[in-house]
Parts: sequence; C-alpha cells; structure tokens
Amino acid sequence: MTDGRGVGGVRDAYRPPVRIPRRGRSNGCGMVEGVVKPAGERSGATGSGGRRSRAGTGQFGALGLYFADPSLESSVLGMLDAVEVELRASVASADPFVTEAARHLVEAGGKRFRPLLVALGAQFGDPGDAQVVPAAVVMELTHLATLYHDDVMDEAAVRRGAPSANSRWTNSVAILVGDYLFARAADISAELGTEAVRLQARTFARLVHGQIAETVGPRAGEDPVDHYLQVIAEKTGSLIATSARFGGMFSGAAPAHTEALAGYGETIGVAFQLSDDLLDIASESVQSGKTPGTDLREGVPTLPVLYALAADDADAASVRLREILATGPLVDDDLHAEALGLLRESPALKRARETVRSYAEDARARLAPLPEGPARRALESLCDFVADRTS
Ligand code: IPE
Ligand code: IPE
Ligand code: MG
Ligand code: MG
Repeated sequence: MTDGRGVGGVRDAYRPPVRIPRRGRSNGCGMVEGVVKPAGERSGATGSGGRRSRAGTGQFGALGLYFADPSLESSVLGMLDAVEVELRASVASADPFVTEAARHLVEAGGKRFRPLLVALGAQFGDPGDAQVVPAAVVMELTHLATLYHDDVMDEAAVRRGAPSANSRWTNSVAILVGDYLFARAADISAELGTEAVRLQARTFARLVHGQIAETVGPRAGEDPVDHYLQVIAEKTGSLIATSARFGGMFSGAAPAHTEALAGYGETIGVAFQLSDDLLDIASESVQSGKTPGTDLREGVPTLPVLYALAADDADAASVRLREILATGPLVDDDLHAEALGLLRESPALKRARETVRSYAEDARARLAPLPEGPARRALESLCDFVADRTS
C-alpha cells in the first residue's frame, strides 16, 4: 500500500473526468446533516440481530430476499454473520486512523449484496467449505474500495446514510483508504489460491474499465445507450458475477452450475445498477442512503436521461427536459430541481423501468440450469426485488 507506484497508478485512474467540469470540492459533513440511514439497510447489514427475517414472512432485510426454508435461512445468515466478523477484522491496521477510516463504511451498513450472492451460490455445493466466507470478504472489500474511490470521482457527500469518506476526511484519505482495502482483498484472495487471485484481478480490471469508459464517454458514432449498458456490465455486473461464481467455485459446485451462477450474477448486476440509477432520480435519500440526483448533478448520463434525450415527444415537458439535459452537468440548483421533477414524471423513466424489468427476467431465465429448490427460489426472489424496487 505504501508502494508509490501503486498509489500513483490509482491517482492517475481517478483524474477528473475529461468531459465533466468539476464543481468545487464537496462540502463537509454539514451537507449530510439530518440524513437518516434507510431502515432496511440499518437492520439488514449490521449485527446478527438485524439479519433475522421477520417471523413468519421468510423475508430478509433490505434486499427482499425470500427464504422458503429455515435451514437455508440459517445457513445463509450464519455465513453472513461470519462475514461481518471477518470483514471488521480484515481492515484492522496497526495505525488507529487507518482502522477508523477503513471501518467507516463497513460500519455504516450496506446491503451486503455481494456476500449474499456468494452465500447463495455456495448452496449449490458444500456451503460449509472454509473458503466460502473469505471469498465473500474478498468481494465485499473490493466493492467497498470502489465505493471509496467512486465517491471521490462523483463528489458524493453521502454513502450508506453516512458522510462519504471524502466528505468526512479528504479526497486523498478516501483514495488511499480505497487502495488499502484493495490490498487487503488481494491478501485474503492469495490465501484462496492462484485462481481466486486471477479472477479477482480480472474482475477488478473489468470494473475499472467500466469506470473509465463512463468517465470518457461514448466514442464518436457509438450509440450512447449501448455504451451505457456496456459500462454498467463492466463496472457493476463484473463484481456481482464473480461473487456468484465464487459461491459456486469455493463450495465445489458442478462447473455448469457455477457458470449459470456467474451468468445470473452478471445479468442481475446490470439490472441492479439500472435500478440504482433509477433510484437516483426517483427516490428520497432516506430510501437510498445517498443524495438523490447525484448523477444528474455530475453529468453522468443514466438510462432515463439517455431515453429522454433520444425521445422525440413534442409535449412541452419533454421538450423542456431535453433542453435542460442537453446543457450537461446540472450544477445550478434550480435547473437541477426542475430536471429532476420533469424526469420523475417522464415517459423516459417509465421506459427505463421496463428495461430494468426485462434484465431482471433475463437473470431469472439464467437460473434454469440450476436444480430447483429453496436456494434457486431465493435467487429468483432477488429478481423480483430488483424489478419492483423502482416501481
Ligand atoms: C452501490 O452498490 C453501487 C452500485 C453498484 C449501484 P450497492 O447498492 O450494493 O451498495 P451498498 O453495498 O448496499 O452500500
Ligand atoms: C458505483 O457506481 C461504483 C461502482 C459500481 C464501481 P455509481 O457511481 O453508479 O453508484 P453510486 O450511485 O455512487 O452508488
Ligand atoms: Mg457514484
Ligand atoms: Mg460513479
């Protein structure tokens, strides 16, 4: 982590976007006063008490996961509890400040979607294999590191209902702590063997390619929607696919089942990112744990915006929306609020919701090679959750 080359490389990767004029550095913690962590995420991610499904419903936490079977529930929740313990231990450092800064987002909560997919994928082999929990920790640490970096790039002030690391400390601290988390993930994956290291490295490279492609924007002549879908497959589908793959792989599931899990992960990952982008427009911060409208403010075009720009509806609202969106990043508060209001009511948002639904259905279809049973039903319930999350 103290290797200057590594840190320098990451700094280069996170230079300000070439297309997007930067605003002044995000305000400090003051911007997030009054933000309440989403109830589902508070209880869904921290501590074993919050993990139990509500009695008699079979439903779990912020992801609406359905456990048809108590033994599946106790296997998965037991694994997630073990992940929590190892996650905290894995980021401890001899330097108390590094420990505090690295634990900041671990303790802020989060849905633990990637560890959950490892745990569910492992149900198709031996879920008790000792490598399953560290594999889940590697995935969550990699995810966490990208969040530290992403909030610098996106100048986000709130993450997981808490001040982002860049907001609480500085951009430099957030970048370096992100590097530290990548290093910890690499260390743990080394214990899992060469194949785990290779997969984690390739996944991370794909993820970074997605972030870079988003930053640079479509090439001349490239369709913006195709570009966007490629970006989200790389930046989000990649890690979620590898999480599901790790579950199959480290539990010794049949190779065909592991492949099906990875295909499912990639597709549900795209649907998940699409739904997250829709929430950025449609939600209140209490629901997402983030500041709504961040993508719009930063000029990151997401599917509803791309659909709105591509539409030729002649009604006054659609014309006005296109006019505002064409100006680029919406740093002016009034214009930002106007665009957000118009987008929330637009046919483009409705069309984007249909796209989410079609990816969620595709993800469900990819489960076909897996044996029927409670674990497959739980994975199917995630498709419903993602499809319904924004409607
Ligand atoms: C946030 O991921 C970034 C996206 C890929 C949309 P999550 O929505 O899984 O974030 P946490 O882990 O719950 O905070
Ligand atoms: C999150 O991307 C980071 C990665 C997926 C690598 P976004 O910028 O789209 O997500 P949020 O809205 O900040 O969580
Ligand atoms: Mg972001
Ligand atoms: Mg981003």
